[in-house]
Amino acid sequence: MSGKIPREFIDDLLVRVDIVDLIDSHVPLKKTGANYVARCPFHTEKSPSFSVNRNKQFFHCFGCGVSGNAISFLMNYSHLDFVEAVEDLAAFIGVDVPRESVEYSGQQKSADLRSLYKVMEQVAVFYVEQLRTNSEGRQAAEYLKHRGVSTSVARDYMLGYAPKKWQVLIDQFGEQALLDAGLLGKSDTGDTYARFRGRVIFPIRDKRGRTIGFGGRVLDDSLPKYLNSPETPLFHKGREVYGLYELLQKQPKPQRILIVEGYMDVVALAEFGFYSAVATLGTATSQAHIDLLFRFASELVFCFDGDNAGQKAADRAMEQAFSSLRDGRQVRVMLLPQSHDPDSLVREIGVDGFVKSIESSETLSDYFFRSVAKGLNLSEMEGRAQLVNTAKPFLDKLPDGVFKGMMYARLEEMSRVASINVSGGVKANLTSNQKMTRATGRPSSARVAMALLLQNPRLAGVVEQKEIDLSRLEFPGVELFKALLETIQDKKPANVAVLLELYRGAAEEKTIKALASLELLVPVEGVEAEFCGAVESLLVRAREAELDRLEAKAKNEGLNPQEKERWLSLLTIKRCSTK
Ligand code: GTP
Ligand code: MN
Repeated sequence: MSGKIPREFIDDLLVRVDIVDLIDSHVPLKKTGANYVARCPFHTEKSPSFSVNRNKQFFHCFGCGVSGNAISFLMNYSHLDFVEAVEDLAAFIGVDVPRESVEYSGQQKSADLRSLYKVMEQVAVFYVEQLRTNSEGRQAAEYLKHRGVSTSVARDYMLGYAPKKWQVLIDQFGEQALLDAGLLGKSDTGDTYARFRGRVIFPIRDKRGRTIGFGGRVLDDSLPKYLNSPETPLFHKGREVYGLYELLQKQPKPQRILIVEGYMDVVALAEFGFYSAVATLGTATSQAHIDLLFRFASELVFCFDGDNAGQKAADRAMEQAFSSLRDGRQVRVMLLPQSHDPDSLVREIGVDGFVKSIESSETLSDYFFRSVAKGLNLSEMEGRAQLVNTAKPFLDKLPDGVFKGMMYARLEEMSRVASINVSGGVKANLTSNQKMTRATGRPSSARVAMALLLQNPRLAGVVEQKEIDLSRLEFPGVELFKALLETIQDKKPANVAVLLELYRGAAEEKTIKALASLELLVPVEGVEAEFCGAVESLLVRAREAELDRLEAKAKNEGLNPQEKERWLSLLTIKRCSTK
């Protein structure tokens, strides 16, 4: 494991980078008033509702609701994970990312990784050359031709051949490097041997095009038919897919990605100009696969054999997909006709027929309800009860949103149960900002106070300076308000982006982001007064509530001396302030 990126470095980065410059380098921005705007890169729109604010170091789209700081922008825009986004951001301002040392120093480690990548790259090139340079390799080239793979597709996928003799590899790279790269294995007796011998080679590249592993197929019927690289520091089977880099080369913004089982399926589909397929590497589809692919496309199609094993695989993939499904994301399940795989099917019905059968494949919801209802008699109560019991745990996994609501509605309809207890409210589909302003048309004092504090962390100093007593405050969200104050006092974030970063992945993240993007239209000079005003009105309300409680108690059971004193002082405050 490489070391963690120190928190301070990330904070520092968010202070040094200017989000306006960063975003402008990807999406040209226009200045209007305090904000910079553009047409949103995350959804299609005619007039610009994507806005970037330099003071907040924050972007927000009023159209699709996406928002965040510079790191979030890169994660969304360039489909990066968190660490990759930090790396890119650091590169943007020209600094290296430090790592907290784990067992050995981070620098040592990244040097090792770099040399591993290099070995993999050079070995991939070596395998490609083998296809042309000797009679053994030419046999492999002949095999590919016989399987209908053209030289141009072979080039796109960098297909190669691993010769039976491997001494040249050792001469060129040395034993240790090849062991580290997973290209040499060690037998029980301690002898080393090349993992791939006499096989067609499929290099597995990560989304940036770096070779991280290999798959190898025999040229005949011998077993095992396929071999994969073992787990190495570069290669984790459960997280990678075959063909993603090649797909992104052809379509940087794919709308749909097809997930198939075999290397040859990906290559055969490409042969027909269909570059939207990737393959899992002989493992079941994992959550990590799904999350990875949803970063690139909003629709995933699982393509499995129509036999029992294929259906089991589809069921498992469906389970994994449930927790990644959000509004706007779609999954389909395509079960192939018996004794076909995508390779053989596309050769039989052509690419148009193949695309048609994708488009007519079942949506995840249809597939799901068909599979949970299988074998149940829904005309009997027992059957319907069983349906609810089987389906509910899956539906509960869905993130809250419109889609979850629809799935529940369908379950209610099928089971004829009037209302199934839904975990995680779903019926409302207003955005958080709409909710905040819905009641009065303008945000409540509580929202104003919280949003101003979040957007101007320096206000925490005002609370301290004026010795505002927050202990008596009561309003929905007061806990978050106090936590926010504490965080600011404790961590002293230099700007809003740094503060937001502290909440990445936290339960409050969504609320915090909604507050950060709330447009309050308060001029800079008015911020402090507006904030104090909002806090004051919250305090007034809290005092009134307390007064009501004390008066009610006075009537019913009487007050003790302390309560009486408090009551009197509240009355005095009230009289003074209403004069
Ligand atoms: P062809 O038979 O050449 O058309 O390949 P295919 O890609 O159609 O293979 P198949 O449908 O038999 O298997 C699907 C995937 O499962 C392969 O691409 C491999 O990733 C994996 N696989 C198949 N056989 C083996 C094996 O013997 N060992 C390992 N480790 N993986 C295998
Ligand atoms: Mn096949």
